[in-house]
Amino acid sequence: MPGPVTVVGHPLVQHKLSLLRDVSTGPKEFRELASELTLLLAYEAMRDLETQPVRLKTPIVEGDFPMLEGKKLAVIAILRAGLVMSDSILRLVPAAKVGHIGLYRDPATLQPVAYYSKVPQDISERRVFLLDPMLATGGSAVAAIDTLKEAGARSIKLLSILSVPEGIEKVHAAHPDTEIVTAAIDERLNDHGYIVPGLGDAGDRLYGTK
Ligand code: PRP
Ligand code: URA
Repeated sequence: MPGPVTVVGHPLVQHKLSLLRDVSTGPKEFRELASELTLLLAYEAMRDLETQPVRLKTPIVEGDFPMLEGKKLAVIAILRAGLVMSDSILRLVPAAKVGHIGLYRDPATLQPVAYYSKVPQDISERRVFLLDPMLATGGSAVAAIDTLKEAGARSIKLLSILSVPEGIEKVHAAHPDTEIVTAAIDERLNDHGYIVPGLGDAGDRLYGTK
């Protein structure tokens, strides 16, 4: 049975995603848009966070009002394109711990190559949000989830701005318990493993490299 996927079809998300796709969007605007899209995906991905009533005084009365339960969160960026997403999400949940998993995709084999990993020690007690703007073959996401589970993670949601069916299937074949939250599921991969219609190389567009 395929795992859960949430596509955030909100018009604001779709508008910003189209700007992100536009080849004439430069790195500064690309970073801003990726950051804003992350907040909108996170809003959806965190819909099931639990709240508890907390007693406080407004300027008018005293009462019980919902606040986030003390459940701990972790945000994990897949380097390097996921960095802009972790910076952004920390504005919403500043108490979250942050981990980094360094992976790059070998351009010839399209296989992920791991070069770094540092995740919170108590990750087994945290709800984990794994961040990478692109879910293409799914190799990087599967490798990152493998690493997180080896470190003890039990609750993982993957936030990817753009995805394709092949990547989603690969993640769910290996990790059916991982929910994927994405702004769009594009058509396919081209012969070089790029998403079509896509937005190009996310890392290069974020940082102006080629
Ligand atoms: C890109 C992207 C993902 C990966 C997705 O990273 O940020 O991590 O490709 O592709 P996959 O689903 O086929 O594994 P890249 O390897 O270009 O590294 P970068 O973030 O350092 O640019
Ligand atoms: N990685 C990217 O940055 N873009 C793609 O289209 C596929 C993988």
